Amino acid sequence: MQLLDGKKVSESLLAEIAVSVKELKEAGKKTPHLAAILVGNNPASEAYVGSKVKTCEQIGFASTLLRLEQDITEAALLEHIRNFNDNPDVDGILVQLPLPAHISESRVINTIDPAKDVDGFHPISLGRMVLGEPTFISATPNGIMMLLDYYKIETAGKNCVVIGRSNIVGTPMSILLSRNSNPGNCTVTLCHSRTQNLKEICLGADIIVAAIGRPNYVTADMVKEGAVVIDVGINRIDDPSRKSGSRLVGDVDFDQVAPKCSYITPVPGGVGKMTICALMNNTLLAVKGI
Ligand code: GUN
Repeated sequence: MQLLDGKKVSESLLAEIAVSVKELKEAGKKTPHLAAILVGNNPASEAYVGSKVKTCEQIGFASTLLRLEQDITEAALLEHIRNFNDNPDVDGILVQLPLPAHISESRVINTIDPAKDVDGFHPISLGRMVLGEPTFISATPNGIMMLLDYYKIETAGKNCVVIGRSNIVGTPMSILLSRNSNPGNCTVTLCHSRTQNLKEICLGADIIVAAIGRPNYVTADMVKEGAVVIDVGINRIDDPSRKSGSRLVGDVDFDQVAPKCSYITPVPGGVGKMTICALMNNTLLAVKGI
């Protein structure tokens, strides 16, 4: 079993991005600038946005973090997005999800200028991705493709099971893996909460991508010997043995599943790091051109 070390791979790719930023600056070109909007104070979202802003600093990007109250109106949030759309200094815009229930996620995403949609969530970005046209690709699935590419994992012709059909992970992941590309060319089965015989379907998988958001959901009896397992989950569970009283686990029961795998991503230090790396890459592309 080999660990797919998202921390190591992202550090190496971020170092390349930092070189590109330096080259842009030396050529008198623009410094990439990411604007992040955080609504409310969901602790997980705070942590994710904090990591994104910190990574911007590390690689020489400019960043703006706009923190808004939980009870901000949708109209006011849309106005802030339009301001970033109109600001030529801002290259990429991200609105951290989830949003409070009174705000329409879809209206928010639709308001972001597709040219600055570094999360790749806008319908125009998604449509281009489906058509195989150059575009911003959603950071988590794109980060997973980068990881598969880095480790030269053979995907062509493989049976791949994606568990979870979210707009931002499962659905784009299933499309990327089935495209005629490398990595890609998989035979993909997209499973979800209504799937019957999940265990049997997973046992036929050469590659499993778990993005269901439930701790330790994928167990050893669902995984065949030699499978590649990619764990997208970041779930906080109680752990009285820790000083903090909790710890992060993925959607995969790592201790039981790992011995059966050819490759597996750890949590933390796997997909999460790659998501940030892919977001930074999109922000660089927003300046250099896709
Ligand atoms: N919430 C969970 N993942 C993401 C992400 O990749 N981008 C944004 N904007 N929100 C998220």
